[in-house]
Amino acid sequence: MPRLPIGTKTPELAMNNTTRETLADVRLPRITVPPHPAKPDLTPAAKEALKERIAALLRQRDAVLVAHYYTDGDLQDLAEATGGCVADSLEMARFAAAHPAQTLVVAGVRFMGETSKILNNEKQVLMPAPEATCSLDEGCPIGLFSDFCDRHPDHTVVVYANTSAEVKARSHWVVTSGIALAVVRHLAEKGEKILWGPDQHLGRYVQRLTGVEMLLWPGCCVVHEEFKAAGLARMRALHPQAAVLVHPESPADVVALADVVGSTTALIQAVRNLPNREFIVATDAGIFNKMRQVAPDKILLDAPTAGEGGTCESCAHCPWMEMNSLETLARSLATGSGAIEVAPELAARARIPIQRMLDFAATLKK
Ligand code: 13P
Ligand code: SF4
Repeated sequence: MPRLPIGTKTPELAMNNTTRETLADVRLPRITVPPHPAKPDLTPAAKEALKERIAALLRQRDAVLVAHYYTDGDLQDLAEATGGCVADSLEMARFAAAHPAQTLVVAGVRFMGETSKILNNEKQVLMPAPEATCSLDEGCPIGLFSDFCDRHPDHTVVVYANTSAEVKARSHWVVTSGIALAVVRHLAEKGEKILWGPDQHLGRYVQRLTGVEMLLWPGCCVVHEEFKAAGLARMRALHPQAAVLVHPESPADVVALADVVGSTTALIQAVRNLPNREFIVATDAGIFNKMRQVAPDKILLDAPTAGEGGTCESCAHCPWMEMNSLETLARSLATGSGAIEVAPELAARARIPIQRMLDFAATLKK
């Protein structure tokens, strides 16, 4: 998808009339991608002992572990084995909102812990890696985003869950990749124009399928941005029977090559349900843990990252998700470190658009 023509006077108003989208002309902060953290080399016996310790600490604290599909496989398995869940970001929010435990332990990135705290302000929310951010969240500072919203008061503000509590509080709707299309279709039926942030690729994908007029914030995910269409097309030619699965945070030319585009849950379901034996997967490699469990006899291939001679900073593994480990989880549970706080007044404002999404999701489930 080519960059859109940008005007000079009020640049963000230069809409591409073919696609009915406008990419906001804002200068985003530079995002530093941390190196992948070193993984401690535990013996199987030491790992089992650590898992047992964590399970005991969860019981002592009346805590439940909620993990994202991109986290370490041991952590995902432990979440399920101890009565918690491993899920996409929509289901993590739903699970946390409904669970009676006094402490919610969120293994993922910061916005996921914040969402749990916003929905359960009276509960304790712990994160093994509270410093784990997300390039989408970092690329959408509240001051810049709020100014942009102020300049377009006739637009409904829809933000991806990968944002700060402040940005959520400034929005009308929060969405995750699992529900973005349905929400925007619903708004389009009411004739609303959308201001979308922060992921331009997901926004563009939603825009293309709904045809609604959209102003796109120019953020992106440093992990999905690395998938390259040329390499993927070559790989597909080598594996003509494989189904190509793509998360919609990937660039439009990568999405265009997909057989299935969807949230992490949708991609896992595709591996389970499609008749293909081979799959080329363009999303974070952490997802392979669940994919192997649901379809042990299928062949899963990583979609290529980085272009010709290019560097690859994340290489299909989110460096922030990787900050979650059995060790950091045990430390957080033992000491109470990594507690997430969201001021009650801010949480009350941010809860409104999140709850709107959850209520809407409930109507779709019926
Ligand atoms: P899902 O909502 O599909 O789990 O995606 C969250 C995310 O951060 C993907 O990069
Ligand atoms: Fe954010 Fe991308 Fe990491 Fe998901 S994979 S948490 S969108 S940086």
